Amino acid sequence: MDVTIGPAGPLKGEVRLPGDKSISHRYAMLASIARGVTTIRNYSTGADCASTLGCLESLGVKVEREGNTVRLEGRGREGLSKPASMLDAGNSGSTIRMLSGILAAQPFTSVIGGDESLSRRPMRRIMTPLEQMGARIRARDAQYPPLEIEGRPLQPITYELPVASAQVKTCVLFAGLFAPGETTLIEPLRTRDHTEIALREFGAEVAVQGKRITVMGRPELSGLDLEVPGDLSSAAFFLAAALLAPGSRIVIEQVGLNPTRAALLDFLRLMGAPVRILSVGHRHGELVGDVEAAYGPLRGGVVEGQWTAALIDEIPVLAVLGATSEQGLEVRDARELRIKETDRIAAVEENLKRMGVAVKSWQDGFSVPGRQRLRAAELDSFGDHRIAMAFTVAALATEGPCTIRGAQAARISYPEFFDTLRSLSG
Ligand code: S3P
Repeated sequence: MDVTIGPAGPLKGEVRLPGDKSISHRYAMLASIARGVTTIRNYSTGADCASTLGCLESLGVKVEREGNTVRLEGRGREGLSKPASMLDAGNSGSTIRMLSGILAAQPFTSVIGGDESLSRRPMRRIMTPLEQMGARIRARDAQYPPLEIEGRPLQPITYELPVASAQVKTCVLFAGLFAPGETTLIEPLRTRDHTEIALREFGAEVAVQGKRITVMGRPELSGLDLEVPGDLSSAAFFLAAALLAPGSRIVIEQVGLNPTRAALLDFLRLMGAPVRILSVGHRHGELVGDVEAAYGPLRGGVVEGQWTAALIDEIPVLAVLGATSEQGLEVRDARELRIKETDRIAAVEENLKRMGVAVKSWQDGFSVPGRQRLRAAELDSFGDHRIAMAFTVAALATEGPCTIRGAQAARISYPEFFDTLRSLSG
């Protein structure tokens, strides 16, 4: 599907966004191995989180969905059953990597794979710790999906993650739930901690000391009544659009503000953006609140080290803001961007160049000088949801209409994106 986007007037209004994708995956997976029923309100509407539910159903979990409310009948720690066919993770790296931690402990063999993009994403990073715990895993060319996971009784480990990845951390912590004793993970940089928070809510014992996280094995998890905060990574596109369009003022209500995710707001403020948190509360251990953004000129900035890990999903849209900022944006230490749903460094560079924007890239980063005009162009999502949405925002700041090829990729995390954008821009 191609979408044509014209230059935008101001964005105005209040919106509530569908549930956070990261949290939705984790709640659903933990619900499946808990005892009793879990109800999840404001579950993510993205195709990725539907892939997780599909996999859980294939593992024998009863799942009912009414609108954005999902009800799962937990099977307890030993109650999942062997799937009749390959588990389909679709486009979802979170589904395959996190669920593998659970599959590795099952008394059956399962195969999990996904679409063409997922089939190119590296899985060695989860295979190594799971094999150390005792699982046997076969992969295409020893590292790509589909994975054939022969579940085994697992042993606890202490594992130092070579890359900062919340998906890999989650995989190992989930596997640790099935091992006797303590499984410990050491992160090179702190990553999003939704898993640690959700595990505690479901009744597991988790200790966190700096970058060292320990889960006590074989807890009794119990079903819960949960509500997912709005997705801050989806909000990022509207915040960016409001910052770009003169006269804008929007409020995003009840969005997740977990400090390991909210680096976006800090970074935007460092760039000089008029972004404000209007209220904050707690929900199931997660911070939630209302955020306001208005039009404002931006200074620019450098994303590196810990910032890169914390902003990893928001970098494409920050690149767009960088081009129009005063000093531009430089992104370093971002090797991981090369192996997301697409090579996001290449996709950002290509689309910006099509818009007449100067940009320079290297293996683990890129730089976009500031004060550049974005010109109308034919853009491409490269099949990646965040590229589709980031360049829709870029298109709003041009003088003529832009076409985004493959804009339907937005459905992976946010099917209502174009409708909500339309409602905000009147
Ligand atoms: C996610 C972790 C990140 C992020 C992805 C969601 C998660 O991936 O890019 O969109 O929910 O844990 P990595 O673990 O590969 O960094």
